[in-house]
Amino acid sequence: MGRVEGKVALITGVASGIGKATALLFAREGARVVGADRNAVGGTVTIEEIRSAGGTATFVQSDISREADCENMVRVAVQTYGRLDILHNHAGILHPKDGPITELTAEAIDETFAINCKGMLFTVKYAARQMIAQGGGAIVNTGSDLAYIGLQNLTAYTASKSAVVGVTRTLAVELAPHKIRVNAVCPGFTFSGMNVALQNDRAFMDQMRLDYLIPELGQPNDVAYAVLYLASDEAHFTTGTALVVDGGHTIK
Ligand SMILES: NC(=O)c1ccc[n+]([C@@H]2O[C@H](COP(=O)([O-])OP(=O)(O)OC[C@H]3O[C@@H](n4cnc5c(N)ncnc54)[C@H](O)[C@@H]3O)[C@@H](O)[C@H]2O)c1
Repeated sequence: MGRVEGKVALITGVASGIGKATALLFAREGARVVGADRNAVGGTVTIEEIRSAGGTATFVQSDISREADCENMVRVAVQTYGRLDILHNHAGILHPKDGPITELTAEAIDETFAINCKGMLFTVKYAARQMIAQGGGAIVNTGSDLAYIGLQNLTAYTASKSAVVGVTRTLAVELAPHKIRVNAVCPGFTFSGMNVALQNDRAFMDQMRLDYLIPELGQPNDVAYAVLYLASDEAHFTTGTALVVDGGHTIK
């Protein structure tokens, strides 16, 4: 019996990195996975990997900065599997023009917030409607350890992820009467497609390793297991919280 056996889970950002690891893990743990991403090639590969391992999954191409796509992802989940039990709001970006506050552009702020905040909220909007109609559910939003500590030159990103953590509490209060739990997972540096440029910055990586209690830094599965816990019934008494998975970065 898997830890999310029989549940229908919508996961955004499944084409690579943490979202992909989470989709594969949820499927291994018995969930029927609806994977969404704007990258159709990568997303389809993830879904095929699940299916060839004997799991159940469907891909829906979506750009979460568009409200219609957020609504459609939920529609596909319900049309395909009849319900929606879990939403993992994971897709997000680190804008290439994010940077020092003295150079920050409206474009970097707007594009960051359109995906990291607006997309998250619109996905919850439609998922919550479905979960309310069903009588419950679990939502896990991806924040960041940068909601808790300062790191220079990531201003738009940090603003957006602080918003995710803050609004997770609001949503937990608002949706509790409907038996919907809402939590956040806050990864520290995790090797993924999002930070390839940083991975190639030797000075940055050396400093990261000094700043972390666990200098190996994170792998996608480290975060996926935290998401699995928060989304599963094992966490039935946990809502409105943020689980920091950061190798001790924030407490050091
Ligand atoms: N990797 C880290 O160190 C780290 C740390 C903290 C938080 N996060 C969070 O993790 C998420 C990124 O995941 P990752 O690190 O595996 O990176 P990643 O780049 O490997 O994966 C992100 C996925 O999101 C998809 N995506 C981006 N914009 C989208 C959109 N508008 N609509 C649909 N899909 C979209 C991408 O195509 C990609 O498949 C973000 O929310 C980020 O804030 C990552």
